[in-house]
Formats: sequence, structure tokens, C-alpha cells
Amino acid sequence: MNPVAKADTLAAPRLPESPPTMNALLPLLACPVTGETGLTFEGDPAGEGLIRSPSGRAWPVIGGVPRLLPPDLLAPFLQAHFPDFTRRHPEVEAWLRDAPPAEPAVLETLLDYSFQHVDLADLGMLVDDWRATWDRFQPGLPPESFAGETVLEVGCGEGRHAWLVSEHAKCLVGLDLSRGVEVARRRDPRPNAFYVQGDLRRAPFRPEVFDAFYSNGVLHHTPVPEESFQAAARLVRRGGRAAVWVYGLDEMRLTYRLSHLTFLRPLTNRLPRGAQMALATGMTAAVEVGLWTPARVLERLGREDLAKRIPYHDAAHREWKYKQRRMFDRLNPPITHYITREALARWFAGWSGVEILNADGQGWSARGRR
Ligand SMILES: C[S@@+](CC[C@H](N)C(=O)[O-])C[C@H]1O[C@@H](n2cnc3c(N)ncnc32)[C@H](O)[C@@H]1O
Repeated sequence: MNPVAKADTLAAPRLPESPPTMNALLPLLACPVTGETGLTFEGDPAGEGLIRSPSGRAWPVIGGVPRLLPPDLLAPFLQAHFPDFTRRHPEVEAWLRDAPPAEPAVLETLLDYSFQHVDLADLGMLVDDWRATWDRFQPGLPPESFAGETVLEVGCGEGRHAWLVSEHAKCLVGLDLSRGVEVARRRDPRPNAFYVQGDLRRAPFRPEVFDAFYSNGVLHHTPVPEESFQAAARLVRRGGRAAVWVYGLDEMRLTYRLSHLTFLRPLTNRLPRGAQMALATGMTAAVEVGLWTPARVLERLGREDLAKRIPYHDAAHREWKYKQRRMFDRLNPPITHYITREALARWFAGWSGVEILNADGQGWSARGRR
């Protein structure tokens, strides 16, 4: 079956009956600089506004998305993407003037993923694909299992999994470094869903305020994955849950290991974005000819059994842009770690009900209760 043909099958999310509000989000927030609570909001919750901390810092809300990045990241981000905002709100510019320099790799992650998601991800709502990746990343943990909970997605990107969970959670907050949160916000207008731009290592939330957090394909893109995990874990109440999916190489399928192109990374990480895209295009064309065309031909000949044996046959009917984007995603991230089972066991030391699953030979799913 052609997955693209049935891609648009979702019922549109219920639109808020009352105007959007920040009321349910504010009690969860804490200033990412001082940790102080009691933040307030003024402005248009679906558009532009300011979130203020009691000690006088003002943070932008742009496009209905609070930009609660630490100052070292917020200053260059605003300058690159929203220079007019600081002109309109000089008080934001005033306190950001003394911002320290950002860690280059993290700033690059922010800018690269912003490029990736904004330019490439608005492909329409591929809900079947989102469900399939959720089931692969989080086997046995359906989105419905978050019913009634206050849930954080750490690194929500363009919001494909947050969209699935916000249908059930009492409150879903998607946090991401990149402008993917803008796509997520546009796609998910549910009144219980909030998308926040921030750094998970200095996340703008009160400690122990969430019932659960989950994170799919993110922690391995941060400088020290274990520290990132522990930072997110502190946001979950005692007895709350965490579920993470991360890259692994040991015990994984050969095709998966090859697809990570680890041997090319030292070269591709140094290429400018345009060259990465050109390379992704060339490599996608090669896979198109070598794998996906034969898979389609076999299907047409009625040999689906053989087609299914071709690695990545499931993408054979995807549109070109989707395949190109997946390839680009492999080449683009500035930081990538591969996590071992032993490392994951250390992350969850002291948690109860810990499970570390090989997720179909394509990464680790690890979960537990704090
Ligand atoms: C491979 S994408 C996965 C996105 C999403 N979880 C999904 O499955 O579609 C990795 C995401 O991690 C985000 N990320 C990387 N470092 C981060 C950080 N320090 N804080 C928050 N998000 C971060 C990136 O911006 C990017 O959106």
C-alpha cells in the first residue's frame, strides 16, 4: 500500500472553544537564568507578547511560542531570525546586551535544526508515519498511556509525537531548541498543548512539575547526553515516568548501522549546509535507484515478499522531499553520540521498573519510574 495515499487521515484537532491562553503554562514555568517562578504574560497568546520574571527579565513570545532560551542562545537567535522584535521591545535587547557567548556546537544545533525543520518539515500531516515512528521508538507505550497527565516532550522538533500525545494528556508541553516549535504550534492548536523554545539542559520549568517526560532521538544530539537526561529527569515528580529513545550501534541491525554514515561524519560535519544538501540529494538518488525502484518493481510484479526484504523498503513510496530530508537529517546534526546499554543503565540507576529495549534493531528505548 502506498503510505502517502493514506497520509492525511487524521481528524483535525479540536479547535479551542475559547481564545488561546498561557494560563495553564505559566505555573509550570521557571526563569531559565535564576530559576525563579511566578512568571507573568502580557500580549497576544496566539501572537506576540512578553513573559516577565519577577526580577525584571522579559522573554519574547513570537507566533504564540514562548522563546525561553538562555540568554547566550536567545541573543544570537533573535538577531538572526527576529531582529525586528528587539527593536519593538528594547527592554528585551537591554538585558540581553550582557549575554555571554554561546557554546558553538549548541548554537549550531539550534540554527541547523531550525533550518531543517522550517525549510523541510512542513510536508503535511503524515499521521500514519508519526504513529509508526512512535511505535518504533516507544514500543508498548501508546500515546493513550499519558491520559490525564502533565507531560513534557524533550526535543519535540516539528511536533509529530507531541501531536499524538496531546490528544490524551491533560497538558502537553513540547520543548525544543529549534524553530521546529513554530511548525509544532501551527499544527497543534489544542488548548492543552504548549510549545516552548528552550535548551533542555537549562529548561525553563519548575523542578518536579511534570508527571512524565519522553524524548525521541534528541539526547544523543546534546554535548553530554547523560547530563541532559539528568536535567530532564529533575523536572519529573518522584514516582513519575521517563521514556527515551536514543541512537545505539551495539546490538543493532547492520543496515541501521550503515545508514548512520558514521564513516562520513568527519567530512560531512564540516561541509556548509548547501553542500550537505547537495550530498543528501545525490545519496537519495543513489538509494532511489539501488533500493526503492527495485522494491516498487517487485511489488508491481506481485512479489511483495521479496520487496519487503529490501532495506528501507517502507520508504519506497514516500515523496522525494521526504526521502531527501531523511538523508539530510543524517548528515546535518553537529553533535551525535551513540549510547550503549550500559550507559543507559547508569542513567536510570535508582529508578524503578527500568526497561532497556532494543527497538527493532534501530536504537534503544529505555524507560523507568523515578
Ligand atoms: C532528530 S530531531 C528529533 C525531533 C523529534 N523528537 C522527532 O522525533 O521528530 C532532534 C531534535 O533535538 C533538538 N535538540 C537538540 N539539542 C537540544 C537542546 N539542547 N535542547 C532542546 N532541544 C534540542 C533539535 O532542535 C531537534 O529538533
